[in-house]
Amino acid sequence: MKTLTTISELRVEIAQQRQQGKRIGLVPTMGYLHAGHASLVQRAALECDLVVVTVFVNPLQFGANEDLAAYPRDAIGDALTAASAGAHVLFLPELAEMYPLGQEGVLTSVSVEALSSVMEGAARPSHFAGMCTVVAKLFNIAGPCTAYFGKKDFQQLAIITAMVRDLSCDVELVGCEICREPDGLAMSSRNVYLSAQQRAAAPVLWRALRAGVAALGQGETAVAQLRATMMKVMTTQDLGQVEYLEIVDPATLRSVEEADSTSRLCGSLRFGSVRLIDNMDLNDAGSEVIL
Ligand code: PAJ
Repeated sequence: MKTLTTISELRVEIAQQRQQGKRIGLVPTMGYLHAGHASLVQRAALECDLVVVTVFVNPLQFGANEDLAAYPRDAIGDALTAASAGAHVLFLPELAEMYPLGQEGVLTSVSVEALSSVMEGAARPSHFAGMCTVVAKLFNIAGPCTAYFGKKDFQQLAIITAMVRDLSCDVELVGCEICREPDGLAMSSRNVYLSAQQRAAAPVLWRALRAGVAALGQGETAVAQLRATMMKVMTTQDLGQVEYLEIVDPATLRSVEEADSTSRLCGSLRFGSVRLIDNMDLNDAGSEVIL
């Protein structure tokens, strides 16, 4: 695996490989790679000839009071994880490479407004514009490719899907299943912030979503009833605070009035300043990847 740090080196590498007819796979990340990230890389390695993993902690998507400075980093571990999952190129740009005029000097913002103010966007108003801007930039750098994103960040994937459609990005998107710890907790770089007690309580979010999906599978479509079912599970612990439990249309992310087999159940649970998110739909009930 090659490690590249400049945009021009990455462009040259990808252009050379594309010229040879190779299919390019792109896996954007913010590093501190875990098995969830690795599953994206593995899928890309199965389907593409050149797999590029990008690691960049993008300041544009962090709010002023969020965990940018404390965001966990591990360049050596990331290189090992990416290589063993099948990556050919690790793109590890410095801040000045991505934003030569600094964060304040970035004058362009790509925003999918209609999908960005609900759920995660309600608590993090500028998050999705910052995320979309860097993803658009990475797509521009990579050129035509297949890009892999996790359904763990379901709203993020819905927003990127809209951006690709609206801006005619030459990118084929692949949404990958959520990787979970054996107790159901969705893997996340932020799980390391949890105390032992919080970590023990955290899978309640997964259990609540499962209960909601199970009720939906048994024919319950009333949103209030499904919410109550999930809330009942959530309140079996009192360490974490429920930020939201939504039942949404997977494309518009609007709350539905009546759930159906396409609805997605999304939730967020906060332990102090650590916000955990998870989501599920009827199809996921039997097909989760449990590691
Ligand atoms: P990051 O949180 O590092 O996640 C990178 C990719 O890994 C995302 O597509 C995310 O959905 C996926 N992922 C994380 N945990 C996962 C899990 N448990 N199972 C499956 N996939 C998982 O998401 C970002 O970075 C950034 O917003 C980014 C898109 C890179 C833009 O900066």
